[in-house]
Amino acid sequence: MSKGTYYVTTPIYYPSSKLHIGHTYTTVAADAIARFKRVTGYDVKFLTGTDEHGQKIETVAKGFGKAPKEYLDTIVEEIKDLWKTMEISYDIFIRTTDDYHERRVQAIFQKLYDKGDIYKGEYEGLYCTPCESFWTESQLVDGKCPDCGRDVQQTKEEAYFFKLSKYQDRLLELFQTEGFLEPKSRVNEMVNNFIKPGLEDLCITRTSFDWGIPVPFDTKHVIYVWLDALSNYVTALGYPEEVDGDYAKYWPADVHLVGKEIVRFHTIIWPAMLMALDQPVPKKVFGHGWILLEGGKMSKSKGNIVDPVVLIERYGVDALKYFLLREYSFGQDGIFTNEVLLNRLNSDLANDLGNLVSRTMAMVEKYNEGILVEPKGQTEFDVSLKEMAVSVAGKIEEKLDNLDFSNGLEEIWKFVRRTNKYIDETAPWVLAKEEGDKDTLDAVLYNLVESIRIISVLIQPFMIHTSRKIWDSLGLEEGEKTNWASAIEFGLMSVGAKVSKGETLFPRIDIQKELEALAALGPKEEAVKEEKAEKASEAKPEITIDDFAKMDFRVAEILKAEPHPDADKLMVLQLKVGDEERQVVSGISKHYAPEELVGEKVILVANLKPVKLRGLKSNGMILAATSGKDLKLVTVDMPSGSTVS
Ligand code: MSP
Repeated sequence: MSKGTYYVTTPIYYPSSKLHIGHTYTTVAADAIARFKRVTGYDVKFLTGTDEHGQKIETVAKGFGKAPKEYLDTIVEEIKDLWKTMEISYDIFIRTTDDYHERRVQAIFQKLYDKGDIYKGEYEGLYCTPCESFWTESQLVDGKCPDCGRDVQQTKEEAYFFKLSKYQDRLLELFQTEGFLEPKSRVNEMVNNFIKPGLEDLCITRTSFDWGIPVPFDTKHVIYVWLDALSNYVTALGYPEEVDGDYAKYWPADVHLVGKEIVRFHTIIWPAMLMALDQPVPKKVFGHGWILLEGGKMSKSKGNIVDPVVLIERYGVDALKYFLLREYSFGQDGIFTNEVLLNRLNSDLANDLGNLVSRTMAMVEKYNEGILVEPKGQTEFDVSLKEMAVSVAGKIEEKLDNLDFSNGLEEIWKFVRRTNKYIDETAPWVLAKEEGDKDTLDAVLYNLVESIRIISVLIQPFMIHTSRKIWDSLGLEEGEKTNWASAIEFGLMSVGAKVSKGETLFPRIDIQKELEALAALGPKEEAVKEEKAEKASEAKPEITIDDFAKMDFRVAEILKAEPHPDADKLMVLQLKVGDEERQVVSGISKHYAPEELVGEKVILVANLKPVKLRGLKSNGMILAATSGKDLKLVTVDMPSGSTVS
């Protein structure tokens, strides 16, 4: 009897390059929850896929000299292979280039338009291509994209807008709904940074490139990649063409698992779209933390990208899955190092679980020729062992219902350690010496094997491969003695069953040697090439001489220079421009101290629209400044990489 349905999703990943360990993190978590819900009696739908449209993908493909679809097909196959290797049990893999998705996104766009929630206008503002995000001047941090810190591009084009502002009050109410966004700490961030300052209508089409789904009634526009991507959660179920099948059954989603940087899209834009379509919003969005490296984010050119394939080849799929879910607290950021990984694998997998299984099986082989003998005797430690054994399943259920994978696994490992302790307490090698202790020895061995059976059942949502290896060793077929319900019954192993040692589950790692081996794996040539192609996606579009002629360059003199009170990188300059005085806030601090600047000359873009930078008005942008008598020019506010001397 099914307990009901459960619909879990991952973000659909950009196939702009190979996936790294961060992407596998979300997918492994989604897989564990999907498997857990299945084994506990739910009818599960698990959706993942790839987000294939947009300017970023188009430029990356160009960087490889390929047409987008040709480039994408190869990478998507690699992603599917990775999920296959990792035994990711998704039910649907959606590609946003799938015909059915494209058609349904167009139908969604049309519905929103017919309802009056989409109107035509002109977009003038800033765009971050790597993040595919629109920004206003006031949202930038030091003039850069607040999400990724990269340069943004000025964009001006005819566009369609979605009336996001109309849903402001309903969204505010939604954020008050218990459990809608977790962890709870992210609620204030969304409400204070985005909702309360006032939502602006959202630009939802682009005309400057064409790698996207065309607006059905105005095909020179393509639909904004986030509108396209977010819709996948319902198009995959048939919406809006077929609403009586899977859509009726599984929507609204029980949980969208996403990294914290895209919570904004999932808790503001996505629910507003659904409200506009008169459809229910997802029950929960969980914004998990990031896996970071010691020096911050992963970067291919630095060669410090953590490639899941390398780790899988060396330590196995289950080791990687276990590590990701056990080491990091799901809602928070965590740091990855090879050392943390290897220590965790050695202590929990090789020592605790691996040893328990190999020691037990070796003893059953040695003392009873691999046969489970009826447990006639008993020891004073049996009751506590059995009590604990049957209580773990319930504890895991409680933790996993809160997506607390780490503590869920810890509950199992408490029992693994308890069982290891039972070996030390009962000392079977001592019992084996006395003929009179044979019944006690048989009982101890039986209790150990039965505890291992229960452990193998409990780890199946997380490490199915290891469960299966243990079932092989125990001579068990998948069925009544391996299903979840069997974990709350002690004593299901049949007397007379033959068990065998099998292969070592998790070999012990020589950490020092392994660290050296991992360090020797430099950046792959291919990865460096990918990075270059990605960089190309940040390049700015060509401008014409007319665009250039719009700029009003002036030479100005610095009258006064002071550090910005609220930003280390910025300096507040008073300039004399012809007869006029004006204030410019500039990122010049990295090149000069304030006292060096008075009397120097600068080249100024004088007709740039004034903005406030960290609260202070800035009227113009400095391109270059002289430095003393040698008239050295140093570019100042321009993107890095454009320094001239
Ligand atoms: N295509 C969008 C998502 C659209 S969903 C409708 C996108 N793609 S992405 O390829 O950039 O993937 C981002 C997601 O990958 C994150 O939200 C997170 O789930 C996962 N992660 C990528 N790097 C990560 C870490 N370093 N750490 C943890 N998760 C990370 O955004």
